[in-house]
Amino acid sequence: MLGTGWWIGALLGCTKDEPAKPDPDAFPEGFAWGTATAGFQVEMGCPTWPEAECTDPASDWYQWVTDPAIVADGGLFVTGEPVTAGPGMWETFEDDVAIMTADHHSTFRMSIEWSRIFPDAAAESATTIEELDALAVPSAVARYHEMLAALRAAGIQPLVTVNHYVLPRWVHDGAACHVDLATCGADGWVNGDRMLPLITLWAGWVAREYGDEVDLWMTLNEPYATTVSGYLLPSEDRSGPPGRSMDTEATVAVMVHQLEGHARMYDAIKAEDPGSTVGIVMNMVDIAPTDPANEADVRAAEHMDYLYHRLYLDAMTTGAWDDDLDGVADRTRDDLAGRLDVLGVNYYNGVTTLGLPFPLDPAVPTFDFFPEFSWEPNEEGLRRVLGIAAEYDVPIWITENGTPYVEDQGVEILDHHLLALHQAIADDGVDVRGYLYWSFVDNYEWNHGLDLKFGLYALDPDTKARLPRAAADRFRAYAASNKLLHD
Ligand code: BGC
Repeated sequence: MLGTGWWIGALLGCTKDEPAKPDPDAFPEGFAWGTATAGFQVEMGCPTWPEAECTDPASDWYQWVTDPAIVADGGLFVTGEPVTAGPGMWETFEDDVAIMTADHHSTFRMSIEWSRIFPDAAAESATTIEELDALAVPSAVARYHEMLAALRAAGIQPLVTVNHYVLPRWVHDGAACHVDLATCGADGWVNGDRMLPLITLWAGWVAREYGDEVDLWMTLNEPYATTVSGYLLPSEDRSGPPGRSMDTEATVAVMVHQLEGHARMYDAIKAEDPGSTVGIVMNMVDIAPTDPANEADVRAAEHMDYLYHRLYLDAMTTGAWDDDLDGVADRTRDDLAGRLDVLGVNYYNGVTTLGLPFPLDPAVPTFDFFPEFSWEPNEEGLRRVLGIAAEYDVPIWITENGTPYVEDQGVEILDHHLLALHQAIADDGVDVRGYLYWSFVDNYEWNHGLDLKFGLYALDPDTKARLPRAAADRFRAYAASNKLLHD
């Protein structure tokens, strides 16, 4: 028999049982879980498909890791590992989606590779999307449709990067530009007059072709990484085409053209895929002065934060523009403003800054620091970085987080960073929509080849089988429960 409490409860609109209290460990309802990849890093190395059907030799990065002169140049730190050592997702994608499904992915980050679809220079003659379309490689176009269809059939939302560093070689000849930027012809991001129309047309083509299958786009990946590894300080950590050192003039030109490129890609995607959400992926770092009592180090930290984060984010949101890069905006650029629906945050490192007595180049007065990066887990750093990202008032995704020491540290990275992420959401009120681990499987880590391993799954070099690491089991448990784990 029901007691009197029941009818009093019913009159008050509730049952005898207390309404469920919100679980303090839960991530928000609908929070997305998944992994992140980039085409160049995961597509090649197919287990059974002939190399000619799997390898994409038409990009600047392919050239960078295979050109004998580049590989032989010890100052460029390119291992020259064959790209066939990669995980071969061009062939295995559907099998990988089955693993993602079992691992409770709701989102997967991938890129669509410009050089696969438009491998030759003929594409430069196109001035409209229709003209460009006539030059696309049909098998590559179709394969990306199959990949997106596989994700959607599994209920996994694709988050697509339109350009994850890699350019077709006809757009950028990194080996020639390494030798002489003035005469290399295909000079990529340095030359805005040529590059901007090309990448805008590419973005418009991608959005028209795949817009029905993709709702969440990122224009560029880590613009700052392109400048540092390509024009400023190619190093063992990252050396990319064209591998020029301390070329500040080119660095500044590339920074500006990437910002302008983002804005024009944003507009092109919106025009072709109205209603979609478009953002950019930034590598955000937790910056601290090497010696907090040293004034120059403190100023250095402020300047690095400015050049790394705020210069870009201010321009993309308010259009604030600092012509002389002295840290103070000089004007508002409407052609850059209001181009950020969502912000992708790649978070890996803390960094300490050593202040220099003078700027490395008088043309960039705020460039007066030397950064030292660390791979130590730094969960408080993630919280601080999210605090900066939140100032820009758009939804945030963690589009990458991980470690090259995944075998030993993967579980710790997940536990520590997810705790910090949860605190940022629950305690600081930051609007983070999803967490994508870098990466699904060991991949071709740019100049390092397979020397650095980031995968939740290890790659068997012979069979290309995906072998779960402890971090894969941990990730699955998080994604399945959508809450913090305490065991
Ligand atoms: C890039 C990835 C890279 C990862 C790990 C990020 O800089 O977006 O392509 O593999 O970091 O180094």
